[in-house]
This record gives sequence, structure tokens and C-alpha cells, in this order.
Amino acid sequence: MKIIRQKKDLKNFIKSKNTISFVPTMGGLHKGHEQLIKQAKNKKQTLVVSIFVNPKQFNSKKDFSSYPRNLKKDINLLNKLKVDCLYYPNYKDIFNFKTKNKIYLHPFSKKLCGKFRPGHFEGVLNVVNRFLEIIKPKFLYLGKKDFQQLILIKKHILNKQIDTTIVPCETIRFKKFLPFSSRNIHLNNNEINSAIKIFKLIKNEKYEIKKNKIKNISLNKLKHQIYDLGIKKIEYIDAINIKKLKIAKKYNENFKIFCAFYINKVRLIDNI
Ligand code: PAF
Repeated sequence: MKIIRQKKDLKNFIKSKNTISFVPTMGGLHKGHEQLIKQAKNKKQTLVVSIFVNPKQFNSKKDFSSYPRNLKKDINLLNKLKVDCLYYPNYKDIFNFKTKNKIYLHPFSKKLCGKFRPGHFEGVLNVVNRFLEIIKPKFLYLGKKDFQQLILIKKHILNKQIDTTIVPCETIRFKKFLPFSSRNIHLNNNEINSAIKIFKLIKNEKYEIKKNKIKNISLNKLKHQIYDLGIKKIEYIDAINIKKLKIAKKYNENFKIFCAFYINKVRLIDNI
């Protein structure tokens, strides 16, 4: 695998390749990333993976500095998965040029995580827009675990008529339903068990809404069940129609339950 630190070298590397598939990451690679990479490898195109912990998408310096980093382990995994190129830039390489496109922020960016993490999605789109301009990938692989991010990147690509197709990848879960997340390494065993219970409660609630043909969805009872598990802070828990991007009212809408909550100091999100 080629490890490239500067965009001019990356552009050189890409020049001779026909089609690029791209998996952007912030490192701390886990089975979820592995799945994205394996899916991208199936296409048999040149595969570029990036590792860049983007400070612009963090809301606090502390969250940015405690974000899991393990470059050696990540490089071993990427080698094992036969990735063609790792782009591992520094801040300047990403932010020292003027982009062709301004970012497009769809109003959905103000909902869910957008309400609680001001500037987060601007930060994500800023860096993704830059990656797209440097790499010009034909395919961009994104996980459904960050569903809101996926939708907002899709809206940006559509709005700016960028010639990149998003390939959405399923959330990978382990230990009876816990989704893989880089932040899981901050959880102890008790906290992992609480997280599993919460995600199962949400899954069950969705099942009940559909089974009982609920016409006026309310998640209040679910919220209380989560607080009863000793959780101190739920940021949001909402049923969202994923086509209309609005609160879902009825069982037969195409909806997912989105949530963000804290287990002690660790913020977890999911959509089920
Ligand atoms: O999902 C992530 O890891 C990040 O938000 C991304 C897409 C790599 C942008 O920094």
C-alpha cells in the first residue's frame, strides 16, 4: 500500500488510474470500516482510504484530542485488506487551498445531531468537499451508522452536481446489537451492557410500532425506559421519515428511530 501525505503526490498517483473508489475515515478503524473497505474492494477499482481527524467537525478541543488514534494498527489493517493507497494528510494539506464548490448545507443539517453539535456538519462537509475535489472519486463509501451525515453529503453532491456516486453500507453490529463505533473503546463492560440494552429497547419499540399499527407515534415511554437504565442525558430520540426527512407520525411510513445519548462521558448515536 502506498502511503501518501501530500495532495500533489496523491493527484500524481491517481492520474494514471481509471476509476477511484474512496473511503474517508478518521482512523480508529473497526469492523464497520472494514466492511466499507471490503465492499469497495469488490468493485476492483483503485481504492483510496483517508485517515484525517478533522478538527473542524468537533465541538470541543477535548473531544478532538481524545478521539481514538492508532495509526500503526490502522496501517496494518489497511495493508491486510489490500488497500491501494492511504492518504494521511496534515491540516495544511487539506485546508490550504480554495475549493471550486462552496458547501451546500441542506436544512436537515439543523435537526438531530445538528441541533446539539453546532458547526459539526459544516465541518464534515468542508472536509468531504475538499476530499472530493482532490480525489474526484467515482464511488464514495459511507456507513449508514452516520445516516444524517450520509444524507447531507448526498444532498451536497446532488446540489453541486458532483460526479460521485455514494455507496451506502449497512451498520455492522456485534455483541447482540451494539454498533461498531470508534468511541466504543472508551466504554467499560457495564457501559457496553447498558448501551446494548438501549439499542435493543429501540429496536423493540420500532417492532411494536409496526406490529400494533400505531397511528400517532410517541417515544415518551421509550425515553423513560432509557432513563430508568440510569442514563443521565438523552440528546434526542426521534422517529424520522427518511424520505421526507421529517418527524414520522404513522407506523407505515418509511422511518427510522434516531438517537444520541451519553453513557457517562461517552456520546453514542444510532439509527434503527
Ligand atoms: O464519518 C467520519 O469518519 C467523518 O465524518 C468523515 C466522513 C471521514 C469526515 O471527516
